[in-house]
Amino acid sequence: MPTKRHAHAAFSLKRRDLLTGSAAVLAIGTLAPAAFAAPDPSLKDFGAARGIAFGCAVGAKDLAANPDLAAAIARDCAIVVPENDMKWGAVEQVRGKPDYQASEAVADFAKRNSMDLRGHTAVWYLNMPAWAKQDITGPQGRDLILKRVRDVMGHFRGRVVEWDVINEMIDHTSGRADGMREWPPFAAGDVGFIADCFFAAKEADPHARLVYNDFGFEYVSAGEDQRRLTALRLMEQLKTRDAPIDGFGIQSHLKVGNNFKPQTFRRFLADIADFGLDISITEFDIDDQRLAPEIEARDAAVAEHARLFLETAFEEPAVKKLLTWGYSNRNTWLNAHRPRKDGIPHRALPLDDSMNRTPMWDAIADCLKNAPDRR
Ligand code: XIL
Repeated sequence: MPTKRHAHAAFSLKRRDLLTGSAAVLAIGTLAPAAFAAPDPSLKDFGAARGIAFGCAVGAKDLAANPDLAAAIARDCAIVVPENDMKWGAVEQVRGKPDYQASEAVADFAKRNSMDLRGHTAVWYLNMPAWAKQDITGPQGRDLILKRVRDVMGHFRGRVVEWDVINEMIDHTSGRADGMREWPPFAAGDVGFIADCFFAAKEADPHARLVYNDFGFEYVSAGEDQRRLTALRLMEQLKTRDAPIDGFGIQSHLKVGNNFKPQTFRRFLADIADFGLDISITEFDIDDQRLAPEIEARDAAVAEHARLFLETAFEEPAVKKLLTWGYSNRNTWLNAHRPRKDGIPHRALPLDDSMNRTPMWDAIADCLKNAPDRR
C-alpha cells in the first residue's frame, strides 16, 4: 500500500535525523533490525507498483475452514473472486429464493481486508440450478437468463469492480460454423443474445467493468487457433452492436508440456486490446500432470512455465489484472477435476499446503516487478 510505504519512509527519515552519533547507533543497534525491518513485500504491492491488480479465487467454505489461507490471501491479494459462490446453481437452488450467504461471506472478507471484489459469473452453461436446466430450453429461456443477470448483478450493485458477464460461450467442438457453443438460449445463432446480456448487465450495475471470460486461447493447437479467431470475431460483433463490454478474461488454466508460442499469444493479446478492451488473467493455475512426481523438479518446471507465460502477458499494457484460481495447493480444483494419473496432488499454485511460497510465487513476483508500468 502506498500510504503504508510512505509512512514507513517518513518514520525512517525521522529516526536517522535523531541518530547523530555512533554511540546512539550502538545503543539501539541490537534492536534496530527487528524493530525497523521493511515489511515483507507482497504480490499485491509488486502488482500495484505496475498498475496490475493481483488476486485469487477463494470460496466461503475454504475461507472459514482455513484461517491460514485467509491470512495469506489477505496479505498478498488486492482482489478476490468467489470461486463458486456467485454461480447460479450456488445462489438460486430454489427458484425465486436466492441465497447470498456464501457469496456475501466472500464479499465481506474482501471488504474487511480492503480488497476489490470480482464477480464470477452471471451467465454460464454449467453450474445451473436443476430447476433452470429444463426452463432455459423453452421460449422463456432467454428472458430467464437475462433475469439471472439482473438479479445477481443487481444484488451486488456498486460492490463488484469487474464481472464475468458471460463465461465460456465459445466451443470449437460444437460443429457450429460460428465456433460458438450449442446452448438453447443461444440457439438462434446470432450474437444478439450475448449483446443483450451485456446491456442487461450495464443496467444492473453501471459502474462494474463488464467482461467476456473464456478458456483455451493460450497455446498453439488446431483447436486453440480456431478459438482465438472465434473470440476476435465475437468481440468485433459485440463492438459493432455497441454492447457495453469493457474487458476480455483469459482463464489461463495452463498445463506444462502444452505448446506455448510467445509470439502467437502476444499477437492475440494485441488484437484483443485493439478493440479497446482491457484484459484480465482470471483463473491462472498450472496443471502438472505430465511431470514426474518429484516435487522440486515439478515446482521448477511449473515456475518456468508461469514465467514464460506471464512475461509474455505483461508485455501487453492492456493486461491489468492477474488472479490465480485458488491460492494454495491445499485447495486447488485440479485435484478433483483434473486428477493426476498417479493420484498425488498437483503443485499448481503460489503457495504449498502449509502456506509456504512455491517457486511459482517467486516467478509471479519477478514478472510483476519486471512488467512495464501501466499506471
Ligand atoms: C470450478 C471450481 O473451481 C470447482 O470448485 C467447481 O467444482 C467447478 O468449477 N472455469 C471456470 C470456473 O470458469 O468457474 C471453474 O471453477 C473452473 C474452470
